[in-house]
Amino acid sequence: MNSKMKSICEYDAPYPEIRVERKNPNYARMLSLAYAGPDSELTTILSYLYGNKVCTGKMPASLSDMLKYIAKVEMRHLDMLGELIMLLGGDPRFASGPRCHVGINTAMLNYQTDTAMVLRNAIAGEEGAVRLYNELIRAIDDRYIREILKRIIKDEEHHIKLFREMAGTSMYNGR
Ligand SMILES: [Fe+2]
Ligand SMILES: [Fe+2]
Repeated sequence: MNSKMKSICEYDAPYPEIRVERKNPNYARMLSLAYAGPDSELTTILSYLYGNKVCTGKMPASLSDMLKYIAKVEMRHLDMLGELIMLLGGDPRFASGPRCHVGINTAMLNYQTDTAMVLRNAIAGEEGAVRLYNELIRAIDDRYIREILKRIIKDEEHHIKLFREMAGTSMYNGR
């Protein structure tokens, strides 16, 4: 295990306690988009684990490990969202949509094998995650959930920085 890379991938700040002001199944349905929608924590985890496999042995050398460790951080996000969905009175099944009836379609995942494309998709995905969490913060009037989502955004911004730095260095080592 590359413990240095693992610690680099983790943003150094505690997570707030997982709690809600009160039950609200409508908020649970809104969170399901970030939990298991088409561009969610769940699809990100799967895309990064795929990237981890196909980037093994390719340049930049630490990209494969970075994808795995960031996938673990995304799993923490997935878990926190699932806990919130439960506390709000929702169903933490891996589905999204107005009735939480749309399961993920793994054919829609990012299956790029070119490291430059993997990095480009990762950066775009993380930026999309920040946008989605900011929209959820505006729409969800619950101070505890807002604090948790703000903390998740710190992680996603950290991931953008890490992927951008790696994309920058890959220009010099021929990927
Ligand atoms: Fe995440
Ligand atoms: Fe992320």
